[in-house]
Amino acid sequence: MSIPIFLLSIPFFLLIAGQPPPSPPPLRGYLINCGSKTDIQQDGITYKRDQGYTSSGKLTTLNRNDILPLLTTLRHFPYGPGKHCYEFSVTNGAKFLIRTTYFYGGFDGGTEPPIFDQIIDGTTWSIVNTTEDYKNGLTSYYEIIITANDKTISVCLACNQHTKSPSSPFISSLEVIDLDSSLYNSTDFGKYGLITVTRTNFGSGGDFVRFPDDPFNRYWQPFIDGNPMVEAHANVTSSEFWNRPPVKVFFSGSTTSRGKNLTIHWPPFALPTNRYYVALYFQDNRSTSPYSWRVFTVLIDGETFYQDLNVTTKGVTVYGTEWPLSGNTEITLTPRTDMPVGPTINAGEIYQILPLAGTTLGRDAIALQSLKQSLRNPPNDWNGDPCLPKAHPWLGIGCSEGEQVRVTSLNLRGLSLTGTLPKEIAGLTALKEFRLSANKLTGPIPDLSPLKALEILHLDENEFEGPFPDALGTLPNLRELLLNKNRLSGGPPQNLIDRKGIIIR
Ligand SMILES: *[C@@H]1O[C@H](CO)[C@@H](O)[C@H](O)[C@H]1NC(C)=O
Ligand SMILES: *[C@@H]1O[C@H](CO)[C@@H](O)[C@H](O)[C@H]1NC(C)=O
Ligand SMILES: *[C@@H]1O[C@H](CO)[C@@H](O)[C@H](O)[C@H]1NC(C)=O
Ligand SMILES: *[C@@H]1O[C@H](CO)[C@@H](O)[C@H](O)[C@H]1NC(C)=O
Ligand SMILES: *[C@@H]1O[C@H](CO)[C@@H](O)[C@H](O)[C@H]1NC(C)=O
Ligand SMILES: *[C@@H]1O[C@H](CO)[C@@H](O)[C@H](O)[C@H]1NC(C)=O
Repeated sequence: MSIPIFLLSIPFFLLIAGQPPPSPPPLRGYLINCGSKTDIQQDGITYKRDQGYTSSGKLTTLNRNDILPLLTTLRHFPYGPGKHCYEFSVTNGAKFLIRTTYFYGGFDGGTEPPIFDQIIDGTTWSIVNTTEDYKNGLTSYYEIIITANDKTISVCLACNQHTKSPSSPFISSLEVIDLDSSLYNSTDFGKYGLITVTRTNFGSGGDFVRFPDDPFNRYWQPFIDGNPMVEAHANVTSSEFWNRPPVKVFFSGSTTSRGKNLTIHWPPFALPTNRYYVALYFQDNRSTSPYSWRVFTVLIDGETFYQDLNVTTKGVTVYGTEWPLSGNTEITLTPRTDMPVGPTINAGEIYQILPLAGTTLGRDAIALQSLKQSLRNPPNDWNGDPCLPKAHPWLGIGCSEGEQVRVTSLNLRGLSLTGTLPKEIAGLTALKEFRLSANKLTGPIPDLSPLKALEILHLDENEFEGPFPDALGTLPNLRELLLNKNRLSGGPPQNLIDRKGIIIR
């Protein structure tokens, strides 16, 4: 499946928008200044350094003073297979807006930014291609809304077929922002994520509207076309709208004169054929009175999106959960014939619906986490989901396909691993092949008798000690058992020795 790209861009010499109000409620979540050794303040937000959230990559500082502080540092990861992840502790089931920001700045001495993939948990979120923006002096950002299906969320970068050695994935900043659970709640976030295509403040030629005007730091882009712009002194409350758009987006709108259709070509680029979540926000800008309302029909590409919408001074949200769009999109607002004023629109959002690829079965993931913790030098790409996405499993891990993704093989031969084997490894009950030969593992061999599917077990050339693990005799499918060159006492039980066709050393 090819995943369309929605690249959002913002000038990197952003104007610092106004003075924040005396004490805006703080943004909740993780706000990360990648590649920095210090925390910084920008736009009333504290961005923390990324130490502790990722275990690989290198820090770089761009040597220029014409860019925002947040963009002056970045973290870059080595070229090669494997994914490189940031991991965040979260509340299972909580909803997040995740924004990744990329400003290349020639950090690697090249002239074109590398192209690579970004991954959210087990799902490939999109390709990261900032070439065009970088050429135009813009910073690129991507956003996705997801809910946590575990106690961690991972955001990872990985090379793809377009990443040309020696260039490598990099990232400038990462935000994982807590969203109110009511936001976009018509979407089944157990199955889907929402990728931001556009989030627009109609009739405004000003700055992006964002934190603190938007308490979730959603970016609302200004949008002007040939239609008349209106200003309003809207007396509305954000919480009365679905999705809680910031009040500030109702201070401007696009409109047209009485009796005419209002037609807007939005978003200003063609969309790949797909299903989208579309939300539109309206308000009648006049002073409140019994007559301050207007009725119009909303059409998208000629299809009725909402018939005879009554827009009052309190305002209203209209949304479609799975609206098909393709190519250039046109929004038409057709006034009811008796209306003394033209239709109006203040804001809108479009999200692409991204089916999630799922995650590795929880029990297997927990067993591997235990193993990772018992190793003193686990492979440095052992982060994020062990099996998924399919193109980027952990080093040495083989997995099954289908509904339930299980770990079926583990091969870490000759990696000079030190540490021990935890008893939790017995949770990998779908494991068929388990190869750890030629490392420096110590301690006893835990009880592996729950690994009923195990066919091949190579633990030779290590420093395991203690008694010979007799329980292996109960594994029905075992046909290769290598335990030589360890410090075990005793030998294989008779029932294994007697087994036909088994290789034992
Ligand atoms: C990256 O973007 C540039 C500019 O838009 C485009 O020419 C190029 O084909 C893109 N590359 C990939 C692999 O998508
Ligand atoms: C979604 O949130 C709205 C409030 O904005 C609430 O009225 C509605 O009941 C919620 N729906 C679900 C399915 O939770
Ligand atoms: C409301 O919008 C109309 C255009 O539809 C504009 O002429 C008028 O000035 C606006 N009123 C206020 C109070 O902003
Ligand atoms: C704003 O609306 C509230 C109730 O919706 C009302 O009590 C208040 O007077 C209004 N303020 C202005 C300035 O119109
Ligand atoms: C306005 O849009 C309606 C569709 O809702 C269409 O039937 C009508 O012809 C349009 N009017 C004008 C003047 O373009
Ligand atoms: C629109 O809503 C207002 C306020 O609720 C109401 O007074 C008016 O009758 C409604 N108009 C129509 C056509 O339903």
